[in-house]
Amino acid sequence: TASAAQFVPEGKSWAALRAAASECRGCDLYEDATQTVFGEGPIRAAKLMMVGEQPGDREDVAGHVFVGPAGRLLDKALAAAEIVRDEVYLTNAVKHFKFTQRGKRRIHETPRRSEVVACFPWLREELRVVKPQLVVALGAVAAKALLGPSFKLIENRGKVLEADGLRVGVTVHPSAVVRAENFTEAFDAFVSDLKVLREAL
Ligand code: URA
Ligand code: SF4
Repeated sequence: TASAAQFVPEGKSWAALRAAASECRGCDLYEDATQTVFGEGPIRAAKLMMVGEQPGDREDVAGHVFVGPAGRLLDKALAAAEIVRDEVYLTNAVKHFKFTQRGKRRIHETPRRSEVVACFPWLREELRVVKPQLVVALGAVAAKALLGPSFKLIENRGKVLEADGLRVGVTVHPSAVVRAENFTEAFDAFVSDLKVLREAL
């Protein structure tokens, strides 16, 4: 089965991991994406790690996490929750952008479970080197990556759970807020989750 495991060097630094991830062919997603988008942020100093789904169109081109529309929303929500983005290690459950081409546009596609599982060794290594006090899953894909495939996001948002000795807080994905019918309500609920999770640090 597909896995990043054979590409992950053992016991290496963050820089070595990121370099190795740029060569990963652990699943098919590297084929159409521009580049691997590895996590970023303070390595040892981050108390908080946030895990999104996968890089989007803008992240795929820039090579950096959360620099597109979802990132702008996340920036606003973090500021409202009094969380300093530069103190957070930000990453994704899947390191390559998955999309379908429609004319000139590249439309985001949700990664399969098999792709999330294949990519997990990178996240496991990020957890090893960053050692956050709390990991926040942004959305169902990240939550299922960390807490198992049957995890129910909506019943558990704003809560901190425990998995394999890891404290995992959960909330929605910022893209879900961007797309929400009632934006203000969705934004406020997201900020309120983030405040609860910040207090859990
Ligand atoms: N959405 C994500 O989940 N991660 C990013 O880096 C950008 C958008
Ligand atoms: Fe490797 Fe993850 Fe990219 Fe698949 S999505 S090729 S496992 S880095």
